[in-house]
Amino acid sequence: MKILFATEDPKAERWKAPLLEQLPQADIHIWDAANPATDADYAIVWQPPAEVFAQTHSLKAIFNLGAGVDALLKLTGLPDNLPIYRLEDAGMSAQMAEYVAYYVIEASRDMALYREQQADGVWKMLRPIRRQDWPIGVLGLGQIGKRVATTLAGLDYPVAGWSRSGQPIEGVESFAGQEQFKSFLARTRVLINTLPLTPETRDLLNYDTFSSLLPDAVVINVGRGEHLVDHDMIRAIDEGLIRHSVLDVFRQEPLPIEHPFWRHPSITLTPHVSARTLRDETVQQICDKIKLLESGESPSGLIDRQRGY
Ligand code: GLV
Repeated sequence: MKILFATEDPKAERWKAPLLEQLPQADIHIWDAANPATDADYAIVWQPPAEVFAQTHSLKAIFNLGAGVDALLKLTGLPDNLPIYRLEDAGMSAQMAEYVAYYVIEASRDMALYREQQADGVWKMLRPIRRQDWPIGVLGLGQIGKRVATTLAGLDYPVAGWSRSGQPIEGVESFAGQEQFKSFLARTRVLINTLPLTPETRDLLNYDTFSSLLPDAVVINVGRGEHLVDHDMIRAIDEGLIRHSVLDVFRQEPLPIEHPFWRHPSITLTPHVSARTLRDETVQQICDKIKLLESGESPSGLIDRQRGY
């Protein structure tokens, strides 16, 4: 069996050994434009070059080395009928939950103020937390959103989730679809985006959304940069609707150095690290799925191209 591995990782070679450990018979071919693997059975990709699928004729499935397939689905030359599988959790939901919890706690427990007080040699207790002042709303209740919501609910914050179907989660208030979007926002102070990027969710974090939140809001975007209308975020902060925003994803990555987000005092940014693709978990999951496919079974994580995730 031949596996084509095409990612932007300059050290792609280091994926070979763990893949071979799981699939000792496999021939792992790292993408090389000059020497394409025309007869590969499976492709493992992350932001691959557009021509990667042009010379492959025998692929049975494509595996995306991430949870979000938005970039892959946009790729010209992506074969029409091949099944695409995304990563399901693979260690990402715990990372995402701790990233989000960190910033929720920082805001709700006044951690930045205590740091400032320390710098000034000030010993002063601020008001204790009142959890009812921090209603949290999670956009998207897939594996990641669900873990984020239940983690914060486990810390006794009032948590609601918004999704297409409004799936019930214990301890989390559930809102569904466009009709309930406004009422979800109206009870939310901390808005956390974990949605997949699709034509329906693009630009959802806009001025209208921000002005529907409770006052003094906090916005955390760990979805995709294209969910956020950048200048609407700056406007909402300038007008005092949003007190702080935490951004891990951007329309252009790396974020251009002249972008106003870099130096905005009310924006915290990180370089797309809220949930890294972990090699061991990822290799295990993809190899398990390849084994299932080889024995004629249907693994989970199949992308619905119409839906976009
Ligand atoms: C990362 O952004 C992913 O989609 O896994």
